[in-house]
Amino acid sequence: MADPAGTLVAELEHIRKTYGSGDTTVVALDDLSMSVRRGEYVAVMGTSGSGKSTAMNILGCLDRPTSGSYRLNGTAVEQLNDDQLADLRNRELGFVFQQFHLLQELTALENVMLPMVYAGVSADDRKARGLQALQRVGLGDRLYNKPNQLSGGQQQRVALARALINQPNLLLADEPTGALDSRTTAEVLDLFDELHRDQGMTILLVTHEHDVAARAERIVHFHDGRLVSEGAGSQV
Ligand SMILES: Nc1ncnc2c1ncn2[C@@H]1O[C@H](COP(=O)(O)OP(=O)(O)OP(=O)(O)O)[C@@H](O)[C@H]1O
Ligand SMILES: [Mg+2]
Repeated sequence: MADPAGTLVAELEHIRKTYGSGDTTVVALDDLSMSVRRGEYVAVMGTSGSGKSTAMNILGCLDRPTSGSYRLNGTAVEQLNDDQLADLRNRELGFVFQQFHLLQELTALENVMLPMVYAGVSADDRKARGLQALQRVGLGDRLYNKPNQLSGGQQQRVALARALINQPNLLLADEPTGALDSRTTAEVLDLFDELHRDQGMTILLVTHEHDVAARAERIVHFHDGRLVSEGAGSQV
């Protein structure tokens, strides 16, 4: 085993991902190897189309690589069937997207409680933990608002509370501030900083903005489906 001490939360080795076939084959990831250590805060940058979201979707067990291996908290992901993969995702991962991906017909509290339904948590515990999670992101007074009754920054904080509700080992965020103005961007990034600093949360965040990436400890750059360079962020 490459990581006997268990210091790596995520480990991608020689990942290749292609879409389509024949003349129209698109190589989205081309021999990508990278890892994220427990407790690390890493930012991913790179031009549009360089494979960032493809990598995040594979890391998030939302998609499978064409070839290569992925270990998530010690588990070889490629050996799992779809049900096992869904369990692993629910247990190990939180995911935040640019467009929030909240269910519009559910309240903030119901959105946050949803992942616990799949995790088999009792209704009373779901509500108690949901309340606590929303208070934690500063939305204790917006429990019963639906997404269209919340600002963009508030919706992203609901999405973050939902991502954290099952106490994941890895938080993945694909352009989480891409749809937010600078003030709400700062609010959301402050929450990421707190999670990292106070709870030791492992965070992998994709962004196009240098000042967002600079909040991380390490910045990796993608180009044409490969990791081409690494540097330090500000939190080192
Ligand atoms: N479902 C798909 N079918 C076909 N091609 C795809 C699919 N998803 C992504 N691609 C292609 O794979 C490449 C990588 O896309 P990806 O979405 O990972 O880029 P990205 O770095 O996230 O870009 P952006 O910064 O614009 O979000 C692109 O060339 C894209 O067109
Ligand atoms: Mg993308």
